[in-house]
Amino acid sequence: VRILIADALPPSSISAIEAGGSTCELRPELRGDALAAALPGVEVLVVRSTTVDGPTIAAADRLQLVVRAGSGTNTIDTGAATDRGIAVCNVPGRNATAVAELTFALMLSLDRNVPDAVADLRAGRWDKARYSKARGLHGRDLGVVGLGATGMAVAARAHAFGMQVHAIGRADRDAQVLASAESCEVRFVADLAELAQRCDILSFHVPLTPDTRGLISRELLARCRDGAWIINTSRGELVDDDALIEAMDTRGLRAGLDVFNGEPQGGTGTFDSALARHPNVYGTHHIGASTEQAQQAVADEVVRIIGAFADGHLLHCVNDVAHPATDTDTDTERDDRRRSR
Ligand code: MLT
Repeated sequence: VRILIADALPPSSISAIEAGGSTCELRPELRGDALAAALPGVEVLVVRSTTVDGPTIAAADRLQLVVRAGSGTNTIDTGAATDRGIAVCNVPGRNATAVAELTFALMLSLDRNVPDAVADLRAGRWDKARYSKARGLHGRDLGVVGLGATGMAVAARAHAFGMQVHAIGRADRDAQVLASAESCEVRFVADLAELAQRCDILSFHVPLTPDTRGLISRELLARCRDGAWIINTSRGELVDDDALIEAMDTRGLRAGLDVFNGEPQGGTGTFDSALARHPNVYGTHHIGASTEQAQQAVADEVVRIIGAFADGHLLHCVNDVAHPATDTDTDTERDDRRRSR
């Protein structure tokens, strides 16, 4: 199988893929037209941050599979791939722990104002008076939006911190989710509006879809308590930036954000975002999934997906393609994908 990897992948994973008889070309710098120009002859394309849009897909002549080395597939034009009979597979759940850990880094930062405290110390200012003011996380009400692998990992950690976790009750939640939720003493509410009203903190763990785009809207923010915190480690497009800025300016809301509307695709670059600059925001650089552990776990799964594909099977396929390969996902994997939507 001829494979183009248009993002970073550990050398050990490339060796493992090539040991299976495939050939890999590692071109992490490819974007846009250059990516399209490199596609003829390629059968499998592996990407992480790199966007695979309609024109890129149209430039491919032998492409059968696009692997997204992460859980979200919003950077792939899945519709264009489906029209061309190209399978799109993701790597669900393997970076859930890392994202949950960053969620807590953001929550703890908001509570103790760690980033400002560090900045003051570096500037030679001692201010125990200001930084002694914190409510603590114990006993606070956390609303987890999305009970896929990441949402559940956040719920489990929140329970260990002595927080009360709330989530939206849905008739189609399966037994496994309900059992995990019960072990974290999750309280279910009717809908997102009620979740916002009940909670001190809302943390979002849903993929970007037409339903979730703009979910953190003026209307939702109006339901939040004054001074509530919004944590978003999913996708920037969930947020109506103007509405969140207004809620922070007028009602003291604060936010821990790892993702932003219009964030750069690459690893470095300039980024001008009024939301990211706002003093009520502690922002990070879309690094939720970026621990060594998570990146290795994702890379291992990419190797497994490609191995299965070479053997005629599709793992974690997110689109509906008439492919000769058999979907060998387990019921649990299929359920997890459905839940996280
Ligand atoms: C994901 O979709 O799993 C992450 O956003 C991956 C990333 O950091 O690019």
